[in-house]
Amino acid sequence: MSKLRVLLIAAAVAFTGAVSADHKSDHKVKERTAPTGKIYRAGDDVPVAKPAVVEASGPRDGVTIYDQKCAMCHTAGVAGAPKFADAAAWTDRIGKGEETLNMNAINGIGAMPPKGGCADCSDDEIKAAVTHMLGALN
Ligand code: HEC
Repeated sequence: MSKLRVLLIAAAVAFTGAVSADHKSDHKVKERTAPTGKIYRAGDDVPVAKPAVVEASGPRDGVTIYDQKCAMCHTAGVAGAPKFADAAAWTDRIGKGEETLNMNAINGIGAMPPKGGCADCSDDEIKAAVTHMLGALN
């Protein structure tokens, strides 16, 4: 047997021994057999799971709503939707007054479903989107 081979075998044996020693060591056994829970007594400093803090995201602004919920129709003029920033397409509609436009956007009009199909949009978010659309005409 070459010297190298003897050395390798010795190293392997030493390694195996180290691993199994670790495996069976008192420390590891305690760790593995430790109870998963812990009993607390009165006066103990009991860790309390903090409820996840859900930041109220607040209302989304008109630009966000428009981009995510309205642009799909109003950019290209799908189904006769008055196009964004196309003053001519909006002239007659603006004559109805912003209040009416808001109500029609909220309740739906013609081929446009209520709130443009945005079920989780609040009335105020729809109004903000309308304001954004009308603002683009100036
Ligand atoms: C599925 C396509 C579609 C989506 C999505 C959509 N619209 Fe419309 N919208 C239309 C169509 C079509 C009309 C024109 C309806 C008509 O006058 O017959 C319209 C008209 C409007 C009008 C004019 C209403 C009036 O009284 O003349 C407003 C304001 C409006 N949309 C706002 C919005 C807003 C805000 C959103 C997003 C929350 C939105 N729309 C999403 C299709 C859509």
